[in-house]
Amino acid sequence: MRILGIETSCDDTGVAVYDSERGLLAHKLFSQVALHDAYGGVVPELAARDHICRLIPLVHYLFGELGEQDQAVDAIAYTAGPGLAGALLVGASVAESLAYAWDVPAIPVHHMEGHLLAPMLEENPPDYPFVALLVSGGHSMLVDVRREGDYRILGQSVDDAAGEAFDKVAKLLGLPYPGGPSIARVAQNGDPQRFVFPRPMTRRPGLDFSFSGLKTHTLTTIQQSGPLDEQTISDIALAFELAVVDTLLVKCRRALEAAGHTRLVVAGGVGANWRLRSRLKQAGEERGFGVFYPRPEFCTDNGAMIAYAGYFRWLLDGGRSGYDNDRDRGFDVRPRWSLEDIQAP
Ligand code: KG4
Ligand code: ZN
Repeated sequence: MRILGIETSCDDTGVAVYDSERGLLAHKLFSQVALHDAYGGVVPELAARDHICRLIPLVHYLFGELGEQDQAVDAIAYTAGPGLAGALLVGASVAESLAYAWDVPAIPVHHMEGHLLAPMLEENPPDYPFVALLVSGGHSMLVDVRREGDYRILGQSVDDAAGEAFDKVAKLLGLPYPGGPSIARVAQNGDPQRFVFPRPMTRRPGLDFSFSGLKTHTLTTIQQSGPLDEQTISDIALAFELAVVDTLLVKCRRALEAAGHTRLVVAGGVGANWRLRSRLKQAGEERGFGVFYPRPEFCTDNGAMIAYAGYFRWLLDGGRSGYDNDRDRGFDVRPRWSLEDIQAP
């Protein structure tokens, strides 16, 4: 089975073709970072309009890399939520229209399930069960995945998502959007002794996260540091990055213990953070748990994970993803949509 995957939930237009026999055949991404940079964050209306301009040319570009027989797909998967409503609607409209024209099924996909399954595209995919740490710009959560498609949220952010905190702190430091890679870059020159930031919600039990206090702490430090020189920016960036990484590490260990699993999957944009990856790898070696990631480019939003999740859903529930869509009445998107609402049948 061959599936075209379409991702447009936020500021990346992603497309890919996944073949159940041969794996990922091709993928393409157009990032809107330059478009939103001037605003320090994603502008939903601009994102939606840009997806309209980019999506169909990107599908042409993708198909240009495939032989003629590989261009014939058996289904089209698209991100139906959660995400920005206008942006989601662009992907949904194009996917549903192509599916109608080509007479193949359209499969609505949950964006976070896409992230969670992204490591399955790699050479050593994890077996079930596992705990998944999903850390993106919109979500931070720990999920107990007992078997295929069975998701129980163990904990989540009570305020900002981890990626959102990176983006906001980068803005406070005058660093470009998206904040995660900018902070990670300047933190490399930081002095770890100069500032030590709190590790929020790690002292008391529980698996929820909170990053807004850390953001306020960063703001206060900036205000008390006078005019920001390059070294101070690096030192603050490093203190912030270490605090987030340590906090995630503590919660991951706790979640693995609580669930009784020995495998950890890390996905979502913040999963591209090399400091987080190396700390988790080290902790896994010390404590005897395996850590599984997608390659960094598939940590952030992409079409490959959506194509794969579409295939996964097709096998699991005929591609319904917990949707009760009446195709005769058209289609819909779900800007807010819990992962727990797509339970295995
Ligand atoms: O998963 P994603 O591409 O989009 C959403 O679904 O939100 O995640 C984007 C988020 C942004 O907040 C970005 O700052 C963060 O992931 N991010 C990183 C890194 N690369 C991207 N955060 C920390 N370190 C990175 N290397
Ligand atoms: Zn995402």
